[in-house]
Amino acid sequence: MSEQAKPNTDTASPDTASSETGSRGTVLVTGAAGYIGSHTCIELLGNGYNVVGVDNFDNSERVVLERIAELAGRPISFVELDIRDTEALRTVVTDHSPTSVIHFAGLKAVGESVEFPEKYWSVNVGGTLSLLDAIAGSDVATFVFSSSCTVYGDPAEVPVTETTPVAPISPYGRTKLAAERAIADHLSTRDCGGFLLRYFNPVGAHSSGRIGEDPVGVPNNLMPFAMQVAVGRRESLAVFGNDYDTADGTCIRDYIHVVDLAQGHVAALQAAQKSSCDVVNLGTGRGSSVLDVVNAASEAVGTPIPYEIVDRRAGDAAVIFADTTKATELLGWQADRTMVDMCRDHWAWQSQNPNGYQ
Ligand code: NAD
Ligand code: UD1
Repeated sequence: MSEQAKPNTDTASPDTASSETGSRGTVLVTGAAGYIGSHTCIELLGNGYNVVGVDNFDNSERVVLERIAELAGRPISFVELDIRDTEALRTVVTDHSPTSVIHFAGLKAVGESVEFPEKYWSVNVGGTLSLLDAIAGSDVATFVFSSSCTVYGDPAEVPVTETTPVAPISPYGRTKLAAERAIADHLSTRDCGGFLLRYFNPVGAHSSGRIGEDPVGVPNNLMPFAMQVAVGRRESLAVFGNDYDTADGTCIRDYIHVVDLAQGHVAALQAAQKSSCDVVNLGTGRGSSVLDVVNAASEAVGTPIPYEIVDRRAGDAAVIFADTTKATELLGWQADRTMVDMCRDHWAWQSQNPNGYQ
């Protein structure tokens, strides 16, 4: 690895006394207990926002709320609910008067979406419509949505810009795109601005190792699987194909540290302009191969992670990484944590919590 680790600078760089008072207003965070939501709550609290989180714990654990408070030095308000329950959401909006929304709640397993597409349309699209209904007529002036680079499908050219044609190849991807369009149409009807953020591949964890990604069952994604091998929960990583047209034959992705991603959401809130709704890619602009990740993870762990090369996984694009120009221009943000940082922090989480939050 040629990349050097950056010093551990995550966690909320509070910029003034406002970090303690919540004077920047209240953000409604859906999916607050999830992987990206929990890291974002810490950044919001550290940057002077109050947070009211909602989640139904479909893919998360209650204990994460305590850890957010522990790491941020103050708690979020929280209401357990299903985002499809519009009345319950409306009550939260009435009780807490949020001025912004960050919408993470949703389902994200591509394979499951193929098997149960209705579930994905119900939660990802129905849930989004319910949320838009609940905030109608409220003081919410900024809306930020978790979309995904999966909406680009298998792009003909890289890096991927926001004008690259969208062509999702799974029900999951189609529901993310449909939710984007519903949000854009809603925002066009009112004095509210926002961003549709298309994430590339979030990995890593808070550098304390106290919160991180805790996938249910067998992980679908590369980094959680590799780290579960490293911690002894699984025997060996299957590398899906080494006959792609890349330098080492394995696929290339744009891995982004989850704390950089979380900070991108704070930047998006601050950059949002009334009556505009822009699509923005959130990635690093750098591609890493599967074997680059395995090697970096092995260095972080201190021992080689066993792997074997197996057949390609159906539907995998060979190479996808972001053009980050628009994020820099519109949000004044860029991801600067390295692959070394991502692996070190993911390992801090996995080694301290070998079985996740249990
Ligand atoms: P996550 O599963 O850890 O978090 C999602 C949270 O939403 C969970 O806490 C879950 O319990 C909650 N939730 C699910 N259905 C709900 C419902 N009906 N009502 C209330 N809460 C509900 O996932 P994550 O990785 O933090 O992803 C957050 C968002 O980012 C998702 O919308 C996902 O599509 C998007 N995204 C994630 C990735 C990724 O690789 N992690 C990449 C691109 C986009
Ligand atoms: C996955 C999702 C995509 C989502 C993205 C970001 C699928 C098909 N796609 O894509 O919708 O937007 O994450 O979170 O799930 N790999 C292995 N062995 C493994 C796991 C993965 O070799 O056990 C390889 C894959 O072939 C791929 C790379 O590692 O080349 C990254 O895989 P993964 O973490 O699943 O992310 P994406 O394929 O980018």
